[in-house]
Formats: sequence, structure tokens, C-alpha cells
Amino acid sequence: MDIYIDCMAKKYSEIRTKLQIVVDKKTTDDMAHLTHYFQNHKNGVSQYFHSTAKEYLSELHEDLNITEEPNLQYYLPIKWDIPFPPPNKPKFKFIDLFAGIGGIRLAFQKNGGKCVFTSEWDYFAKKTYEANFGEVPFGDITQISEKNIPEHDILLGGFPCQPFSIAGVSKKKSLGREHGFLDKTQGTLFFDIARIIEHKKPKVFMLENVKNLVSHDKKRTFKVITETLSKLGYSLHYKVLDAKHYVPQHRERIIIVGFKKSIFKEKENFTFPDPPKTELAIKDILEPKVDDKYTLSDKLWSYLQEYKKKHQAKGNGFGYGLTDLNGISRTLSARYYKDGAEILIPQKGKNPRRLTPRECARLQGFPDKFIIPVSNNQAYKQFGNSVATPLIQAIGKNIVKELQKLDEYTIREGHPIGSKY
Ligand SMILES: C[S@@+](CC[C@H](N)C(=O)[O-])C[C@H]1O[C@@H](n2cnc3c(N)ncnc32)[C@H](O)[C@@H]1O
Repeated sequence: MDIYIDCMAKKYSEIRTKLQIVVDKKTTDDMAHLTHYFQNHKNGVSQYFHSTAKEYLSELHEDLNITEEPNLQYYLPIKWDIPFPPPNKPKFKFIDLFAGIGGIRLAFQKNGGKCVFTSEWDYFAKKTYEANFGEVPFGDITQISEKNIPEHDILLGGFPCQPFSIAGVSKKKSLGREHGFLDKTQGTLFFDIARIIEHKKPKVFMLENVKNLVSHDKKRTFKVITETLSKLGYSLHYKVLDAKHYVPQHRERIIIVGFKKSIFKEKENFTFPDPPKTELAIKDILEPKVDDKYTLSDKLWSYLQEYKKKHQAKGNGFGYGLTDLNGISRTLSARYYKDGAEILIPQKGKNPRRLTPRECARLQGFPDKFIIPVSNNQAYKQFGNSVATPLIQAIGKNIVKELQKLDEYTIREGHPIGSKY
């Protein structure tokens, strides 16, 4: 049967060309509906995408003068000839918010999950995402109703570190007005995560952010976040983790994992993963031959050296980071495209060089088959904004273990399983 379906299947790359699935500035959510439909036509959530996908396909057929009937079924089944196709027999469903280029999706797909909804508003990031996963993310999450998001087991979000002030709340309080706990986060992107959790009630969520979120505003921001998540009915596990045990990069991030109390009864046995024994060094991720354009000009190299000297004289450690090839690098940031000063690679008889985009991908644990379809500057921003995928994968593995225990319990006790993956 599978062989028969395989023979019938149309390649995604051909559908992409025929229907001109190209992400650019003008891309609307219509393309997201269509690709989400293609990816989810048989797992019980297609109704979220079907009608808009159908309308859009009709418009496309007319615009592109395609003679076949505009019938979604005509394009199915699809052979996913992209680097990271959806798993054949998924163990769970997840959604990918603030998706960037899909570092978190990559990690959870490797753990056997099927992504059923994704949102990201930057079109360069969407372009990279589509090239690798065959799905165009929906746009601005603040404009997406939680009612239009399909059921899922795990909600994932590496939300931007947009700290918020709770001053507004104190003002409201002083005016004697009652406020709900969600009000405290209104106007922030965390609010959008909270409203989706409140409405969809996933079994588990995992949120990722910079380490500073924990100490921001005398720890008040983090307190509001954790209180909000607890009040939504979740037991929380959080920890600052360094990715250096998984990739040759010092990268500390706060990870917050929540398990729905009403189903796990606060008995989940989740722990953050123990770091692996073998650690990588920078030399392990370098490309053997690198174009001279990555070598710093004399002008920039002198400037960086002067800058460092000035700050050393003042007694602080600002300045470039020349990496020990047998050691690890500093944190790759979204600003790396500016001068690359935070991670420089020493070269014999030459000025140091910056990393290539492919080396940045490796520094975050992306496999070499990950397609980079954007300019170097965009690629540096995208990898700097992303996650160390092997660390997220290790955390995901422990989350999925708990989810599977739940499924085993459900089967043993004869309760119906909540969702068909
Ligand atoms: C820290 S990055 C997350 C990157 C992601 N974890 C990855 O692996 O690439 C945050 C992302 O949120 C996106 N973003 C910010 N505001 C948004 C909004 N209102 N709607 C959708 N995406 C948004 C940014 O464009 C950025 O790519």
C-alpha cells in the first residue's frame, strides 16, 4: 500500500514550482494556509486550513493559468523532498511559535513530533523555514486568534526577550480596578503565549529565552511569567542551561517547561538532561577551505585591537573574542553580521577571520543538509537568533518520555487517547 502511495505521490519541489510557493515581502497567510493544509491533510486538524487553502488554490490556478481543476486532492499525497520532512508515524503534535528558522522544530521533529502550526513574521526567516520544512509560517502572532490554532500536545516558543514592565498594573491597582493575572502581561509577546495556552490547554509547553529574563526588573518580570503560567494550571520546571556541552559555544538560556496539572497530577518525573560526556571544540566545526572575504581587513582588525586596548585600560573586558580552536566560542548573537568581533578565528600569517554562515549553523548544531537560501547577513542574524538544537533535542527527549508514559497509562486504564497524531 505504502509503495503504491509513494508511486502516486507528487514531489513537493514540483508543487512548489508549479504553484510558485515563493516567500517574499508580499507573502500573506494564504500561502501558510495552503502549505499547512498539505502538511496536515490527514491528521485530524485539516479543518483549520482547508477553506482558505481551497480559495487560495482557485485564485492561484486562475492567476497562473493552470488548466487542471483547482482541487486540493489533486496535489495529494505529497513526497516531501525537503531536508526535514514530517515524520511518518508521529508520536505527538506540537506548535512552533516565534519559529525563526525552526531550530526548535528541528529538535522536536527529531523526537518524533509533527508540527501542526507555526508562526513567524520575518519574511527572510520564513524563506529559510519553507526551504527546509516545506511549510510557510503564519505571520504576526498578535493578530492570530487562538481559535484558529489546532489542537496540540506540546506548545513551543523561543519568544523574543521583550521585557515588560508591571508598572501599568500597579497603576491599575491604585485606581482600585480588579485585574486578571493575564492583564499583567497585556501588550507583551508573552501575553500571546499565555492566551494560547489558556485557550488550547496543551499537555506540555516549553519556552526558551535569554538568561537575563530571570533577573530582569529585580526578578519581577520572571515572577509575573511563572505566576501566570502556574495559574493557567501547569506545574513548572525551569533552569538556566549552557549549550556548551552539546555545541562548542557558551550559550546560556532559561528553559521553562510546564506540565498540565489536571492530567499529570504534578507527578511527572521530568528532569533536565545530564550533559553528554564528549564535548566538541571549535576546530570540529570549521570548514576546511574558507574564502578570503571572511578575513578581517587591516582597517577593521586595527580598529578592534584599539577598541579592546582602550577598554582594557579602563579595566573592563569589552572587545573582540579570539577563539581558542581547542576550546569553545562566546555566544553567537544576532549582531554577528556587523563585524563578527565576538567570535574570531585565528589564522596563521593572516588577520583573523569571522565564521562562515555554515560554521554558524554548525555552532548551533544544525546538520549540513540545512539549506541557507538567504544572504550572509540574514543568515548570521537567523543563526544568532536560533537555538543550540542538540540541547533542545535533549530536553525534548525527556519531555516526550513523560508524554509517552501518559499515553501508556491512558491505554492501560482504558481511557480514550486525546489526539490522533
Ligand atoms: C529569539 S527568535 C526565535 C528563533 C527560533 N527559536 C529559531 O530557532 O530560529 C524570536 C523570533 O520571533 C519573531 N517574532 C517577533 N515578534 C513576532 C510576532 N509578533 N509574530 C511572529 N513572530 C514574531 C522574530 O522575527 C524572531 O525570529
